[in-house]
Amino acid sequence: MSWELLLGLCALLLLVVQLLRFLRADGDLTLMWAEWQGRRPEWELTDMVVWVTGASSGIGEELAYQLSKLGVSLVLSARRVDELERVKRKCLENGNLKGKDILVLPLDLTNTSSHEVATKAVLQEFGKIDILVNNGGRSQRSLFVDTSLDVYKELIDLNYLGTVSLTKCVLPHMIERKQGKIVTVNSLMGILSVSLASGYCASKHALRGFFNGLRSELGAYPGITISNICPGPVQSNIVKNALTEEVMKSVGNDGDQSYKMATSRCVRLMLISMANDLKEVWISDHPFLLLAYLGQYMPTLTWWLSSKLGKRRIENFRSGMDADFSYFKPLKKKHD
Ligand SMILES: NC(=O)c1ccc[n+]([C@@H]2O[C@H](COP(=O)([O-])OP(=O)(O)OC[C@H]3O[C@@H](n4cnc5c(N)ncnc54)[C@H](OP(=O)(O)O)[C@@H]3O)[C@@H](O)[C@H]2O)c1
Repeated sequence: MSWELLLGLCALLLLVVQLLRFLRADGDLTLMWAEWQGRRPEWELTDMVVWVTGASSGIGEELAYQLSKLGVSLVLSARRVDELERVKRKCLENGNLKGKDILVLPLDLTNTSSHEVATKAVLQEFGKIDILVNNGGRSQRSLFVDTSLDVYKELIDLNYLGTVSLTKCVLPHMIERKQGKIVTVNSLMGILSVSLASGYCASKHALRGFFNGLRSELGAYPGITISNICPGPVQSNIVKNALTEEVMKSVGNDGDQSYKMATSRCVRLMLISMANDLKEVWISDHPFLLLAYLGQYMPTLTWWLSSKLGKRRIENFRSGMDADFSYFKPLKKKHD
């Protein structure tokens, strides 16, 4: 066999392997590689002080449970103290922590004047902040033409400015120590955009732009990592809590969540991203993962597809179903 033919066969084999990996993937290929060959969260994230916002529910709550098994010190923040206390109790029951290792710190992300005091409280309690997980946030389910401008302001105040404000309080401490991780739960909607969530997409696009800009300002501090975590649909209360046409209105019910990625799987992949200092990760089943890749290389095709999907989302939503239900369900994979 000639060398040229052998090389050609190797290239073809590599292509087939990559294609198979991609079809089975529930995250971008760098993340999948890190899961297979990279550093383990169990080795990298122990003995750290981790501050999680939005810890009273969904992704943040599950993150608290998985982190509590790694032996970190935890700061749990959100608005509802009783829910945070519930999460703390469960962390103590199932994890490796003692009461003194978990601080419940109520925090409203939109009340930016309280963020400095909150940061001081964490430093007073634990003396350092190794990881800030900017996770708290809300989504949207309403058409632009029907929606009050106040909803757009609220989404920017909470998802974008609230996160920027807390980061501004914590970053000087990390700069002083020349180390730290700022991990932000963004969304695939910070890369793509869909109907019924124009304000949410805008707030997440803004966050991605902000953190990518900030990362490039921190070149002199290689010990500080800025990570954007971009999940697709994940089981949580995000739809129930999503804003609708008016600020005081939310969707109020979860709909069928069974087709979405299990929260535990999403959080495991987040921990792998943190352990490996990945700068941006996409965590999603297909077809959203495929759309994210297509969006990079074939934007025109992607926008055409997303307007087709967008029409279906609106029809689903109007008939009382979860917006993504009908086209996502047949592709559902079980991960746990
Ligand atoms: N689930 C998904 O499909 C998905 C996909 C992509 C990205 N995400 C992102 O993941 C993050 C977590 O959402 P989730 O899915 O876990 O939804 P969730 O179950 O509704 O949890 C949202 C969390 O944010 C907190 N929060 C809301 N408003 C707040 C405020 N003003 N100040 C402080 N905390 C506030 C909530 O706590 P309180 O109500 O107690 O304040 C709650 O703990 C969000 O940033 C979301 O955009 C979710």
